[in-house]
Amino acid sequence: MTRKSILQKAVFPVAGLGTRFLPATKAQPKEMLPVVDKPLIQYAVEEAYAAGVRHMIFVNGRNKRAIEDHFDTAYELEHELELAGKKELLALVHSLMPADMVCSYVRQPRMLGLGHAVLCARHLVGNDPFAVLLADDLMMGEPPVLAQMAEQFEQLQASVLAVQEVPLDQVKRYGIVAGDSAGERLTKVNQIIEKPSPDKTPSRIGVAGRYVLTPAIFDLIARQKSGVGGEIQLTDAIADLTQQESVYAYQYKGKRYDCGSKEGFLEATVELALKHPQVGAYFRDYLKGLKID
Ligand code: G1P
Repeated sequence: MTRKSILQKAVFPVAGLGTRFLPATKAQPKEMLPVVDKPLIQYAVEEAYAAGVRHMIFVNGRNKRAIEDHFDTAYELEHELELAGKKELLALVHSLMPADMVCSYVRQPRMLGLGHAVLCARHLVGNDPFAVLLADDLMMGEPPVLAQMAEQFEQLQASVLAVQEVPLDQVKRYGIVAGDSAGERLTKVNQIIEKPSPDKTPSRIGVAGRYVLTPAIFDLIARQKSGVGGEIQLTDAIADLTQQESVYAYQYKGKRYDCGSKEGFLEATVELALKHPQVGAYFRDYLKGLKID
């Protein structure tokens, strides 16, 4: 089920090198790594589509041809499937690219950080609100997490960040927010810091890789100097945005798998395999039979 949304555009920063998954990512983007049978980027695109987004904007790097090919016609494959009468597989291939979905690609020539990647999409986003989805955060929710956020955005008419509580020893991996309660699952953000140390963190509320932002963010990103890790941080621009506009943190309903790490990727693989209509039952029996001590 998809819903009509005023959120029509989504930016997918996919230029990262994926060094944590070498050698798997030597010649293919990390976003093409499959969890069971679907690449990470497809989970994110489907989530955006389910939230009503129809214009998918990929900010990619030199090594990312496979992503463009994934969301394009595959003449030879489709022809062969048709000849073989494999209708279900053909429908599966076609479902990747619904007729009302548009994809744009823009290059991030140098990897200067998440903020910089988002800024690369400015001319395609224009003056509209937009979503940012980090595909290596695989989000499972019902309704899908971005659809929950789009609903919040429509009510609040302000930027919305997906957040979750994280353990204290992990705050240095996240953008961390603090603020005032603004209703169920909502916090009005008055502080946001990129990757603080546990002794300096204002809270344990960490930003997951889903954002709905107003276009005012672009001028603020353009003004940023390099922050944590020498990168232009989206988090720093959001901190400035809170000085101009309301920004809300939304505690999403669902589960996040950090597929940027091997551990998270394995957790996602096991849990999604268990739910998979084709292999789930088999895999459950298989796991039960494993002798793990
Ligand atoms: C990025 C953001 C960070 C956010 C995280 C979510 O960090 O900079 O604020 O909490 O994504 O996954 P990265 O994981 O790219 O280092």
